[in-house]
Amino acid sequence: MTKDDVLALLEQADAPVSGEQMCKTLGLTRAAVWKAIEALRADGYEIEAATRRGYFLCTCPLTKSALEKRLAGQFPTEKLIVLPEVDSTNNYLKTLAANGAPDGTAVLSLKQTAGRGRRGRSFLSEPGGLYLSFLMRPQEPAEALLHLTALAGLCVCTAVKQVTGMQAGIKWPNDPVLNGKKLCGILTELSVSLETQEAEYVVIGIGVNCNQKRFPEDLSMATSLRMEQGSPVDVNAVAAALLLELSRMRREFLTRKDAWVRAFAETCLTVGKDVQILRAGDTKQARAVGIGKDAELLVQYPDGTTESISSGEVSVRGLYGYV
Ligand code: BTN
Repeated sequence: MTKDDVLALLEQADAPVSGEQMCKTLGLTRAAVWKAIEALRADGYEIEAATRRGYFLCTCPLTKSALEKRLAGQFPTEKLIVLPEVDSTNNYLKTLAANGAPDGTAVLSLKQTAGRGRRGRSFLSEPGGLYLSFLMRPQEPAEALLHLTALAGLCVCTAVKQVTGMQAGIKWPNDPVLNGKKLCGILTELSVSLETQEAEYVVIGIGVNCNQKRFPEDLSMATSLRMEQGSPVDVNAVAAALLLELSRMRREFLTRKDAWVRAFAETCLTVGKDVQILRAGDTKQARAVGIGKDAELLVQYPDGTTESISSGEVSVRGLYGYV
């Protein structure tokens, strides 16, 4: 099929392919090549036409087959759900979880129509973002899971580094930040059994800004991988790297807890900064001095007293800039 042949040619090339070259290689007319390019664009492929140089494949849509190719058998296919559109990947996965979906199930989409953020806020899901939710079923009391949400932020930083070479840091408790701007939002939702007091499931929802070219003015603290590296990223590569990191975290978050929390502390940009602690209408200034064993923030007040701050309990703001 012409469209697939054109796609295969673009996928193999690491430089723009001229229309003339495509016609020659595939034995097609110029009109047929142009029609195939338009059809691919309609399917979600981002193809740039560089003047006098030809066509270049910028981004591929997120598909289960492209993702599986990247995952190379390291993620079970029956636990991988890729949707063309969804209200919220967290909502979708929570319904699956309530109906018995297994530990390690993941739901991914490039289009979210009703994304949800922390503290009951909505999460603006701009085109270009990657929206992902990951299910865990740790048979533990909620207190044993306090560090999970921080480790999810660390998974994003590791995946971003693997795919782009760029090092993101974390604004405590779990906001991945690149070059001083917010790269990602994370919402962790927990369901606890009243009978056993153990977690029934945890859904970790992650929205990574991948290929947005800009953000609305009121989101000027946000950035995307594309904006920082100056070229588009392959969302399938980002998604695959993130799924593998989350799977590794699922296996190790209790058995290798200290090592994970140490790595989190090294990635946390808040430590060493002056911060504001906002708690139920009260604002206090403090200095962030470290990370505790459950990834809580250790702060020191001007009078020398110290406190250990758990995520969710308070909001921490940097005094200078976003971090
Ligand atoms: C925040 O910064 O307030 C957290 C935002 C979390 C957004 C992600 S996108 C994927 C998942 N689905 C949702 O509805 N929310 C999370």
